[in-house]
Amino acid sequence: MAEIRLEQVRKAYGGVVAVHGVDLTIRDGEFVVFLGPSGCGKSTTLRMIAGLEEVTSGTIRIGSRDVTELEPKDRNIAMVFQNYALYPHKTIYDNLAFGLRMRKMDPAEIDVRVQKAAHMLGLEDYLARKPKQLSGGQMQRVALGRALVREPDVFLLDEPLSNLDAKLRVRMREEIARLHQDVGTSMVYVTHDQVEAMTLANRIVIMRDGHVQQIGAPLEVYDRPANLFVAGFIGSPEMNLIEGRIEGGHFVAGSLRIGLPAGTSAGGEAVLGIRPEHLALSNDNNGVAFTVRVIEQLGAQTLCIGEAGGERLRILVDRVDSWSPGQSIGVRFPATKLHLFAKSSGQRIEAAKP
Ligand SMILES: Nc1ncnc2c1ncn2[C@@H]1O[C@H](COP(=O)(O)OP(=O)(O)O)[C@@H](O)[C@H]1O
Ligand SMILES: [Mg+2]
Repeated sequence: MAEIRLEQVRKAYGGVVAVHGVDLTIRDGEFVVFLGPSGCGKSTTLRMIAGLEEVTSGTIRIGSRDVTELEPKDRNIAMVFQNYALYPHKTIYDNLAFGLRMRKMDPAEIDVRVQKAAHMLGLEDYLARKPKQLSGGQMQRVALGRALVREPDVFLLDEPLSNLDAKLRVRMREEIARLHQDVGTSMVYVTHDQVEAMTLANRIVIMRDGHVQQIGAPLEVYDRPANLFVAGFIGSPEMNLIEGRIEGGHFVAGSLRIGLPAGTSAGGEAVLGIRPEHLALSNDNNGVAFTVRVIEQLGAQTLCIGEAGGERLRILVDRVDSWSPGQSIGVRFPATKLHLFAKSSGQRIEAAKP
């Protein structure tokens, strides 16, 4: 087990900078998720930790060792890929044992490790089969098992669940979370799926265009997104974002006039954010008039898309059966649930502590 430390880790392919300089310490035993849209540099960063990509500049340490120049095999990491990368002609047992045999481990010790991993992953009954005789979920378990038997310092996982259907993805997500609790080894996990990131991570590293946008625990990032990009990327359904300006303690956009928390500084062009689940229904006619356009029944909750003061808004509330398109309802913007961002930079504006 070990801490992983990235210092100004940068990667350029010719003139194209894929990763602009990442500073990050992954604590011993921590589950860190790299999250961001396709092409933002997640895999490149992970592959630099693995040693599968050379760094252009910067330093990578695992524990007390500087591993920047070490071969992948000397870093004591294990990687799990999206496409499983199993040997099709070997049995599951041999797939699990292969890496250990290559390291000339004692066959008795190999057997102990393979049986233990097979047990943890529910693969005991499949050890004699070939990969093509398994389902996608079982193959992904074998890929995890192959990493597990290595007993590495760090697990690196690159979109390991992307090839699975939605239902199985949720199940495997739970298994990975349980596995992390059982083995307690640091995991670095790449995904573009913010729900996976929110549910699995101790901390999320949100990336965009090779730049780290924010690092924080899932609920920290949800509660206080550092900029507009993070605000829009984290949370489903997406945060409502309204362009307007700050004027005398209010946010003004068209005919909307929303009271801001005491201590909100300055004025000027800004973007107001409020999550669909934080817009409150108002029963006493004091709210803003919201016109219902589209109703999506999710079961326990109702998502409603409509307009208030000329702005398109999404509202997520506990199930309502009675709404219909065209209807007007009152909504409130609770001051403590508002997010403000500077329009020019997109950076979060903090209300001064009263
Ligand atoms: N071998 C390569 N040669 C040139 N450009 C690359 C190479 N690998 C990745 N890139 C570029 O680096 C950027 C980051 O890629 P990647 O880390 O794979 O993104 P992600 O995993 O977040 O989708 C992309 O713009 C991609 O096109
Ligand atoms: Mg990738």
